[in-house]
Amino acid sequence: MANNNMMKKKMVCLAIVFLSMGLVARVSGENELIVLNTENLSLVMEVDDRGVLLHRYFGKRLQDPSPFLSKTLYRTDEYGTRNEAYSTMGGKNFREPALRVTHHDGDLNTELRYARSERMIDHDKNRSELVIHLEDTKHPFRVKLVYRAYRAEDTFTMHAEIENGEEGEVVLGNYYSFYLPVEARGYWLTHFHGIATTEMSVVEARLTPGMKTIQSRKGLRSTHSENPSFLLSLDGPLRENGGEVIAGALAWGGNYRINFDLDEFGTLNISAGINPYASEYRLSPEETFVTPEMVFTYSARGAGDASRNLHDWARKDGLYDPAAIRPVVLNSWEGVYFDFDEKVLREMIDGAAALGIEMFVLDDGWFGNNYPRNSAAAGLGDWQVNKDKLPGGIDALARYAESKGVKFGIWIEPEMVNPRSDLANRHPEWIVKAGGREVPTRRNQWVLDMTNPEVQDFVFDTFDSVLKLSDRISYVKWDANRHIESVGSAWLPPERQSHFWVDYTRGLYKVYERIREKYPDIIIQACSSGGGRVDYGSLKYHQDFWTSDNTDAFSRAFIQYGTNLVYPAIATGAHFSHVPNRHTRRIIPAKFRMDMAMTGRLGFEMKLADLTSDEAAPIKKAIAQYKQVRDIIQFGDLYRIVSPYDESGYYALMYVSKDKKRALFFAFCLDYKGYLSTVNFKLNGLDGDTSYRIRELNNEKPAFWAEGRNIDGDFLMKEGINPNLQNIYQSMVLYLEASQDGSKPEEKGKQQTSTATVIHTEEF
Ligand code: DGJ
Repeated sequence: MANNNMMKKKMVCLAIVFLSMGLVARVSGENELIVLNTENLSLVMEVDDRGVLLHRYFGKRLQDPSPFLSKTLYRTDEYGTRNEAYSTMGGKNFREPALRVTHHDGDLNTELRYARSERMIDHDKNRSELVIHLEDTKHPFRVKLVYRAYRAEDTFTMHAEIENGEEGEVVLGNYYSFYLPVEARGYWLTHFHGIATTEMSVVEARLTPGMKTIQSRKGLRSTHSENPSFLLSLDGPLRENGGEVIAGALAWGGNYRINFDLDEFGTLNISAGINPYASEYRLSPEETFVTPEMVFTYSARGAGDASRNLHDWARKDGLYDPAAIRPVVLNSWEGVYFDFDEKVLREMIDGAAALGIEMFVLDDGWFGNNYPRNSAAAGLGDWQVNKDKLPGGIDALARYAESKGVKFGIWIEPEMVNPRSDLANRHPEWIVKAGGREVPTRRNQWVLDMTNPEVQDFVFDTFDSVLKLSDRISYVKWDANRHIESVGSAWLPPERQSHFWVDYTRGLYKVYERIREKYPDIIIQACSSGGGRVDYGSLKYHQDFWTSDNTDAFSRAFIQYGTNLVYPAIATGAHFSHVPNRHTRRIIPAKFRMDMAMTGRLGFEMKLADLTSDEAAPIKKAIAQYKQVRDIIQFGDLYRIVSPYDESGYYALMYVSKDKKRALFFAFCLDYKGYLSTVNFKLNGLDGDTSYRIRELNNEKPAFWAEGRNIDGDFLMKEGINPNLQNIYQSMVLYLEASQDGSKPEEKGKQQTSTATVIHTEEF
C-alpha cells in the first residue's frame, strides 16, 4: 500500500544520503560540541578532552552554542558531578546507569569514550539522524547512540545499539534507550496510572531527592499500571500554556522503566528503556542489542505545545498509516457480547448502515467448535468459525456488510489460549509457564510463548488464516486480555530464561512486521482489556487503539484527556455506548455521550436497535457532521481549554486545522456549581486576524447567542465565549470556520444585528 511504498522510498532516499553523510573526526585532546537542532530546539553534547560524551543542553534553539566550550562549571569533578550523555556503571558514576554490563572477564565497569559520529539527512530534509560511536576504554565493547531530530515537529528520538566485540559473552544488566540529565530549581512530574477502566489517570507530584520510577512488570501491557510516558515541568507545576516542559514516551510495549533520579547536586537524571527487572540479557560475541526508541520533546510554552509536538511526530513517524482518515466504527462487544447469531449480526450491520457508520467489527465469540467460544471460559486458540453461530461463515457476513455499504472487521486474540481448547491440548509446550509450578490462569486463559519461533509462526498464521476467511475483511481488532506473571519458557535454555520479557515483545514485533509486510492495508486496532497497549511501540503497527472498556462519557473525559496528553486523537478509539453504563451504571444523555465520542476516533459499542427514535435521528446527523469535520480532529492541533481535573467542573478542548481556517470547540459540564454559575472559556489556537463563523453541531435547536455570527479570533481568544452549560451532563460542540466574505470588522458588526453599534476606540 501507499504507506509501505512510502516507507520503502524513504529507505532508498536515506541510503543515498548515507553515501554523502558527514563523518565527524575528532582531534584527540580537544573538546568538541555536537549539536542537533530542530526548528526551535537544540540538543547539545560535548566530547571532553578525555573523550567522555557529556550532555550540555536541551531546550530552546541556541543561535551559537560555542560558549559551552569555555563555560566553567564551578563544581569539582571529584565526585562524579558531570552530566554524562549516556551514563554507565564505571568511572565516577554512582547514579542509576543507563548501561550496566558484566564483561566476559567478570569486569563490572564500563567507561565509554567517543570514537566518531555520523550525520544523515532524510530525503525531505525534515529528519536528521546523528549516530555517535562510543567504545569502552578496556574492552572491544561498543555503543552507538542514535538520535533523530524531526525539524518541523520539534521532536527527537533516541535509542542505543550495544555491540559485544569481546571474545566471550557479556551480560547486560541495564540497557536503557535514553538518558537525559536536567538542571532546574524544581521538578514536577506528571505521569499516568490506572488499570482497565481507569486508564491514563493523571497524577502530578513534585520530585524530591532520590529516585522515582514508573514502570511495567506485566510483560505485555504497557498501560495497566503506568504508561511509558511523562511530562516533566521545570520550576513549577505543569501548566497548559506556559512554563518549561520536557515530555517523553518510550516506544515499547513490554516491561519498561523510566527513572527520575534526583541527585545530591540537584540534577535530575532521567533514564528510560527496557526494565532491567529479571531481564539480564546475554550477548554473544559480535551480537548487537538494539534498544527501543524513546521520543522526547521540550517546550517553553507548557503542556499544550509539548503534546502537539508529540502528536505531530506520531502523525509523521510514530503511528501506522498516519495520513489516512479513520472510519466510524460499530464494534459488537457491548451490544451483544458472546450472545449472537447471523441474524443478530445482520441487524447490527443494518443499524450501522442506517446511521452512516462505515465499519462493523465483529468482536469476541465467533470461533471454536469443539470448545465453542460462548464465554471467556473456552475456545481461545481455535480460530475456526463457530458453525452453530455462523453457519454461513465470515465471508457471507462480510459480503452482507459490503452490500449495505459497510466495511467489515473482526476480533482476534492470537497470543492467548484457554486451557479448554484444542490448541492447549495440542501444544502444551507453547504455554508460558515455569516448569514444575502451577500455571495460573487469568480470565481463564494462558499466554503463548512468543519467544518461540513456532509460536510466532502460529500467531502470524492465525492472522493470515483469519484474513483468508473473507477477502472483504479490512479491520482487525487485536486483543490481549491478560498480563504475564509466573514466567518461564520451554523454548529458552535455562541460562537465557531472563531473556523472556524482552524476547516476548521482540517476538511479537517480528510478527507485526511480517503482518505489515503482507497486509499493509488492513486497519489493526491495538487492544488489551481496553487500553492496555497504548504506547508508541505498538502504534508503529496499528492505526488506533481501544482506549478503554470504560465507555462512560464522564469517565472518558478523564481517560481521553490523559491519553491525549501524549497520544493523538486520531488513534483514540472513543465509542458511544448504552446507558446505564455497564461499568459505572451512570445514565448520561445521548448528546453528551455523542459529543464526548466525537472528540476522538468516533465509534459505537451497542445494539443500535436499542436507540430510541428520539436518539437515532440526531445521532445519524451527528455522524454525518463528524465525517465533515473529522479531519480537524484527526489531523489538527489539540488545544486543551479546561482540564476535567480542574475544580471548575468543566472539560473543554479544541481542535484547530493546521491552516487555522477551521476549528471545533467542545465543552462539557461535569459538575453542578450552583444555579447562578455561568462559565466563560477563552479559546486558543485560532488566528487572531481571522473572523470565524460559528455554528453549533449536534443540536437540533441551536440557541447559543453566537450561532451563525462571525466573530474575530482575537475576540474569541481574549474575551472568549460563554456557552450556557450549567447542569451536569450538558455539552456543546461549536464549529468555527473562517468566514469567506473577507468583511471588515465594522461590516461584520452590521451584519450581525441591525441595531448593533460598533464602537471604535482611537488607534495608537
Ligand atoms: C477486552 C476488550 O477490551 C473488549 O473490548 C472486548 O474485545 C473483550 N476483550 C472481548 O473479550
